[in-house]
Formats: sequence, structure tokens, C-alpha cells
Amino acid sequence: MSLTGEILVLSGPNLDLLGERDPALYGTQTLAQVIERVGARAARYGLSTRHLQSNAESDLIVAVHEARQASVAIIVNAGALTHTSWALTDALELFAGVKVEVHLSNPAAREPFRHLSTLARVVDGTVAGFGALGYELAVDAVASLLGAAGGSARLD
Ligand code: DQA
Repeated sequence: MSLTGEILVLSGPNLDLLGERDPALYGTQTLAQVIERVGARAARYGLSTRHLQSNAESDLIVAVHEARQASVAIIVNAGALTHTSWALTDALELFAGVKVEVHLSNPAAREPFRHLSTLARVVDGTVAGFGALGYELAVDAVASLLGAAGGSARLD
């Protein structure tokens, strides 16, 4: 099965420290290793990936704006901005392609301030609690939704 286009993978604040940041919660893989897995998974569907990690909200917003022309889908782990950033949420709302929110941990099972995702109202769905595997599941979801939107890559 083959699709075409680019998935923008966005990583928010502190995800650059994956591997050393609370491994019991976030795993031992570095962000580079996680992103490599995403690229390999996407390639199975003929999709390319571009990754941006930033600790600055504005960088992530600009990347979403650019994706409106460049990308067919966005996979986003916004880190703690998930719980606070209506600006990133507004930007994502303006992106017409497929949007999947990912979390390594399961925020719903953690502190109350993590229970709200501002992004949830504008994404197609969320994968949380499966560690790095969640990113690959997100790619599968993207491929399925892109297939459903007119391609030939339905997974079901
Ligand atoms: C996270 C969950 C957030 O609550 C936290 O602030 C992060 C990582 C996750 O992947 O589990 O930075 O998005």
C-alpha cells in the first residue's frame, strides 16, 4: 500500500531530554531513536517525515503554519504545552490534514493538571500511555485516515 506526502512530527518542550528524563515514565530511548522509528514506520506507507523539536511555543506554531502547505499530516507531542497552549491549539485547528496527538505516558492517569489537553478538541485522535510504540501507532492511524480520505491504504 502506498500513500504520498509528508508527516510533520512535532515535539514540544523537554522532549529533547528523552532517554535521561524520568526513564521510568518516558522510557530509555532518546528522541532521535523515537523519531527514527517513526520514519521507518512511515516509509512502509510511502510517507516521508520531518521532525521539529522546540522548547519554544512560537517555533511549534510557525511549523504548523508551514505544514499547511507542506504536509499531509501532523503527529504532535506538545509536552506540557498540551495542557496550556490555546495558541498551538488554534494553529492546529487551521491545519486541514490529519492530526494525531501522542503522549509517551498516560496523562489521564497522572496529576490533575495533565488531565486537560487543549489540543484534544482539534485533533483526530490521541495515542497515550504506550511509550515510543505510541508514535508508531500514530503513524498507522495517519495512514489509515489518509487512506480513508481517498487513498488505497485502508488498514481494516
Ligand atoms: C508528555 C506528557 C506531558 O504531561 C508532559 O508535560 C510531557 C510529556 C508525554 O509524552 O507523556 O512533557 O507529553
